[in-house]
Amino acid sequence: MATGFGIIGCGMIARFHARAIADCRGAKVVAGFDNVPAAADKFAEETGCKAYHDLKQMLADPEIDVVTIGTPSGAHMEPAIAAARAGKHIIVEKPLEITLRRCDKIIAECEKAGVVLSTIFPSRFHDSSREMKRAIDAGRFGQLTVGDAIVKWYRAQEYYDSGAWRGTWKLDGGRALMNQAIHSVDLLTWLMGPVAEIRAQTAMLAHKRIEVEDVAMATLQFENGALGIVEASTAIYPGYLKRIEIHGSAGSAIMEEEDLIKWDFAKKRKRDEAILEKMAQQVSGGGGAADPAAIGHHGHTRQFQDVLKAIKKKSAPAIDGPEGRRSVEIILGIYKAAETGRAVKLPLKSDPTLKARKVGVAGL
Ligand SMILES: NC(=O)c1ccc[n+]([C@@H]2O[C@H](COP(=O)([O-])OP(=O)(O)OC[C@H]3O[C@@H](n4cnc5c(N)ncnc54)[C@H](O)[C@@H]3O)[C@@H](O)[C@H]2O)c1
Repeated sequence: MATGFGIIGCGMIARFHARAIADCRGAKVVAGFDNVPAAADKFAEETGCKAYHDLKQMLADPEIDVVTIGTPSGAHMEPAIAAARAGKHIIVEKPLEITLRRCDKIIAECEKAGVVLSTIFPSRFHDSSREMKRAIDAGRFGQLTVGDAIVKWYRAQEYYDSGAWRGTWKLDGGRALMNQAIHSVDLLTWLMGPVAEIRAQTAMLAHKRIEVEDVAMATLQFENGALGIVEASTAIYPGYLKRIEIHGSAGSAIMEEEDLIKWDFAKKRKRDEAILEKMAQQVSGGGGAADPAAIGHHGHTRQFQDVLKAIKKKSAPAIDGPEGRRSVEIILGIYKAAETGRAVKLPLKSDPTLKARKVGVAGL
């Protein structure tokens, strides 16, 4: 019997979830729930599934084995906890949540309920990212020296105006970093290893009516001693494909979105030419550089397949809760370093107190 999916939050990303589920063998979309009933109805009509106007009712549906959560980022925890308590496996959009406390609550509830929890980071499933990871694990870069994540994107003011939650501390949890560049921050720490120390500056320069940053610059020191930068913006016209650059004493690789554009090693291997050739022109859509909907859903499909495998084998998925929490911790560290002008050491003991965040925000 097909594994049934319920989708919580029937907005933009829910459409990508539905397409990805449709591409997974042995999976089907059973229902959608949104706290705006008309949004659930529209989604159900588009995808041919049931619409629920009440979360409890949806979570009581025996046809649903897994839920995906595509509500605003600071509203992931409540439905995730409810779903865990109902015994559903859970796939949460990035960021897992916008504070460590909220991430930890989700992780603890899923552990208690014995359900699979996965945080969505589709870029980790791209062939180019996997080749990079394999090369690092095989020691091909020598001593890792520099790891950079560069996200020079553009979002028009209308994008922020399109949803009241966008660009707010309470529900977005930040912006250029917490919403957009988080994919690259996740990739960077997956490839380079844990971050030990952060220095940073952020600014809000080219948008109105948003509380958070549209430019962020951070320098990182990784636990292995390598240095790196995170450069993130939604205020760079016209918006360019995001880049990950990994350098070491014996090799360098540069990934632009999904394309490997540099793959240079002191010790060459037979497959290198083929890898470079195969990993060019993989980008689908515009990679989200200027238009949030100009992304492919193939990364989501691979991640959903990974979760289906984890459920079947009763094992951990590739990106579980603690893996999803890593990028949130780094980004909160960057915000803290930017606000205090001081270096911040990781791991953080708890959520940093951020003056900017506290304005008008309760219960984070
Ligand atoms: N992986 C990616 O590439 C990617 C891309 C875009 C967005 N996202 C993530 O997906 C999430 C949603 O983003 P979006 O752009 O689809 O937003 P959106 O505003 O288009 O959709 C959010 C939907 O959730 C509904 N909603 C709000 N609160 C709810 C609640 N408590 N219960 C049920 N429904 C609720 C809203 O009515 C809306 O329909 C965010 O966390 C975002 O970071 C991920």
